[in-house]
Amino acid sequence: MPEPLNIDDIVARLRAAAKTPEARAKVRAIVEEVVADPDAAARAFGDPGDDVILFEDDTVSIWYCHFHPGMSVPAHDHQLSGSIGVFRGRERNDFFNADPAGGLRKSSDVFLGPGDALSFGPNAIHSVTCVSETPCNGLHVYLGALTTVERTLFDIDKGDAMPFDDENYEKLMAADRFGHG
Ligand SMILES: [Fe+2]
Repeated sequence: MPEPLNIDDIVARLRAAAKTPEARAKVRAIVEEVVADPDAAARAFGDPGDDVILFEDDTVSIWYCHFHPGMSVPAHDHQLSGSIGVFRGRERNDFFNADPAGGLRKSSDVFLGPGDALSFGPNAIHSVTCVSETPCNGLHVYLGALTTVERTLFDIDKGDAMPFDDENYEKLMAADRFGHG
């Protein structure tokens, strides 16, 4: 029997990996390993029902993320590279590039279900939608202090870019609820 997953161990391993020259690949490998058995990951993380910052320092931010059904996180950047692994539910990531004519142009979409992982670079822009009838839960790891980074939110419909703050986030979430998303 393999050892059950332990959150403290996962956080410790991610912190160590984030300090190495191959941080991006090593963190991605750990995220993949954690969600490879989605049921074990779901048991280990439980279901806090909301986002939880498990750890943050200058080298790494480790989040447990919770998206409820139908929820859409407006398009945003991170200014950090990151890895996402899903262990419950299903999410669609829409990726965008800056359009030379202004605004953003969708470049791809990636669906993540239990056991799936993806990585992105510091310039990536994405929106995330929970497309399952159950909440979508995942482990999100960013190589830096995410809460201290100056990030950007995007209004895809209007082509507007704005600072990532609570007010703009709520404004875009509200617009999405009324069918603009
Ligand atoms: Fe994101």
